[in-house]
Amino acid sequence: MRNQRLDDIDPEEEKLRGVRSIEEDEKTVEEVLLAHLEPLIEDRLIAEVIRPIKSGKEAVVYCCRAHESLGGELIAAKIYRPVERRSFKNDAVYQQGRERGARPDARTLRALGKKTARGRVHKFSAWIAHEMRTMTLLYQAHADVPEPIERQGPVILMQYFGDERAPAPVLVNVTLDAGEVTTIYQQILRNVELFLAQHRVHADLSAYNMLYVDDHIVIIDFPQSVDPRYNDDAFDLLVRDVKNVNGFFRDYDLEVVDPFYYTLDLWRKHVDPMR
Ligand SMILES: Nc1ncnc2c1ncn2[C@@H]1O[C@H](COP(=O)(O)OP(=O)(O)OP(=O)(O)O)[C@@H](O)[C@H]1O
Ligand SMILES: [Mg+2]
Repeated sequence: MRNQRLDDIDPEEEKLRGVRSIEEDEKTVEEVLLAHLEPLIEDRLIAEVIRPIKSGKEAVVYCCRAHESLGGELIAAKIYRPVERRSFKNDAVYQQGRERGARPDARTLRALGKKTARGRVHKFSAWIAHEMRTMTLLYQAHADVPEPIERQGPVILMQYFGDERAPAPVLVNVTLDAGEVTTIYQQILRNVELFLAQHRVHADLSAYNMLYVDDHIVIIDFPQSVDPRYNDDAFDLLVRDVKNVNGFFRDYDLEVVDPFYYTLDLWRKHVDPMR
């Protein structure tokens, strides 16, 4: 296995040196991504990497077995793709108002302005740190999110849903029984409210980012989540989240909430009574 740090790879430099591009060699990508799990194996967090379960735009998720010291259960390792080779939802929309702790120092700010490697790496790790912080906050508030276990570099370890053969399905691929439609919808809305009470709007909520597990759902994928206290777009993002959720229930016999008025109610309760 090649033991190269992803952040150290400069595609321009590689081109100059005649190194194969990533499109030409997907296997190398997997090897480079897997190399990020090695420190976690050395640190006895992961005992065994079982299989990749999903390769998305921003991350690859692996099913692993946790080390005995962690209980030996299955866990998910979400490994973010290297900064040079895919773009995050780059939108300033999601970056606005990140908590103070996550703000870059002056040197990094200059680097961000100049779009240097240091700037890109900072943005990359801020995004991952934000997902970890958000999952921790929401899990501690008893929201239906995976238990976050550990973050190391571009890897987030979290509770896994599914078995060795396959992960739990995403809600969009599930046909609900008539009897569970209302309870699932209520469960989602309860989480939306709980998130807002914890100063979070998911901002990419849809049936694609929910796992269906034994008659209930688990909400995943938080790097783009925003804080309504500091982000001017948070209200609109919440309206959009509720619309997306309603979209999944379109084909079911269910009376859904009005996205705008529902958001307004929650907003007055949890963010700004004067809105
Ligand atoms: N804790 C978990 N347990 C089981 N499966 C998971 C878990 N977390 C993620 N997955 C699977 O991995 C997929 C990708 O995860 P996630 O949405 O967090 O990453 P992503 O890079 O944003 O992917 P996408 O671009 O498809 O949204 C999910 O759709 C789901 O199938
Ligand atoms: Mg996703």
